[in-house]
Amino acid sequence: MAPSQSQPIDVQRFLTREGKDLSYGQLRKLLVDFTSIPGVIGLHGGLPPGDAFPLASLSYTTVEGDKVSLDDAQLYAAQQYVLPSAGLPALREWSRQHVIDLHAPARPDVETVIVAGATQGLSAFFSLFLERGDVLFVEEVSYSQVTEALAIPKGVRVLPVPMDADGALPEALDAAIAELAEREPGTRVKALYTIPTCQNPTGLTTPAARRQALYQVCRRRDILILEDDPYIYLQLPARDGAPVPGLRGLPRNTSYLHLDTDGRVFRIDSCAKFLAPGVRAGWVTVAPALVEPLSMALQAQTLGPCALSQVLTHSLLARWGEEGLHVHLERIQRIYLARLQTLLAAAERHLAGLATWRRPSGGMFLWITVPGLEDTRQLMSDLVEARVVAPPGGIFHPTPGTKNSHIRLAFSFEPADKIEQAIERLGRALRAWKERTSAQ
Ligand SMILES: Cc1ncc(COP(=O)(O)O)c(C=O)c1O
Repeated sequence: MAPSQSQPIDVQRFLTREGKDLSYGQLRKLLVDFTSIPGVIGLHGGLPPGDAFPLASLSYTTVEGDKVSLDDAQLYAAQQYVLPSAGLPALREWSRQHVIDLHAPARPDVETVIVAGATQGLSAFFSLFLERGDVLFVEEVSYSQVTEALAIPKGVRVLPVPMDADGALPEALDAAIAELAEREPGTRVKALYTIPTCQNPTGLTTPAARRQALYQVCRRRDILILEDDPYIYLQLPARDGAPVPGLRGLPRNTSYLHLDTDGRVFRIDSCAKFLAPGVRAGWVTVAPALVEPLSMALQAQTLGPCALSQVLTHSLLARWGEEGLHVHLERIQRIYLARLQTLLAAAERHLAGLATWRRPSGGMFLWITVPGLEDTRQLMSDLVEARVVAPPGGIFHPTPGTKNSHIRLAFSFEPADKIEQAIERLGRALRAWKERTSAQ
């Protein structure tokens, strides 16, 4: 059941100076205002004429053998400057309906805005809400791109929240905010960044009760939640032999958006992991008050995401409908499950006694622990020697140079025989390290 609704918070007061100063610009405003007037002749915008475009038709065949052709209107929109910065209206509507079906947001008035992948959503969040000196809390190990590509260059302070197998610890977040307020009064703590499903790098999913507890801390401490959920469609069965969920069997109503009575959640979904990373498409779900500022941030970056990609993405999702998407998700989940099973079996064979792990809830990664090894960076020369590469866990910690005993193993890409070989090599590297250190 969705939590009861209250008044939305005033999200505008979280905006940075940059977020407040964004605008569409006068020319764009003219273009938007005038093109909707019937009979108007436009001499105001620098649009190429339709007959100057290179593509006269565009069609593709899906892996199921379904042939799809774009119609003239789609082909024109795909090549012209006509899409609003918030995205192709039909794709916005598809994604809004999808979000409502899958998440039953506590505030049903949420809107979606199309982005060029989760990365553009993250980057827009930084433009809108984070400036030099602001604090962003993240899970103790997290997607390193957020720290390295976005936070560090902007001077945003990224602070880790200790985790257990269920995700960030609510009491630790609460205590860290309180301590910061005491030690450094006036510090702006803006948001918690979380990857709630099949987390990168741990592969673990934060259960509903933990999400609820974290939401309540964010509420009490009045901070935003940046919910980045690209692996939601790659959830896999917890035990062998159980069926993959497809779309229909995915856990529903578990997201922070579902809990968000206040309008403090900025939820990012991406097509990268369930369609293809190259389409650079996704959607952000926000309170209505944020649609304009977010659209202006996208307009400032790229005049909105690629139109060709949005048209293709929508044509595919519309062609599939819910049934087609379910079948597609079942197909890709089976591919990921087979690779995960190969990795787990290889780990049993080659890493038993050297490392420990928990079966991930899905996604792309197995997070292993090497007992007795304080910093897995020390393994690098052994890995080079064994001809296998896997990132040491320390690089996922937001504080540069932090040590930990983990390694992230991706099972998504290499075929079964390569996974088997890689894990055998990793076992060899771990044994070499053990022999070296026990001889010292
Ligand atoms: C947690 C997380 N967020 C975002 C991304 C990037 O997503 P996109 O390709 O949609 O920009 C990744 C990719 O690895 C990721 O793991």
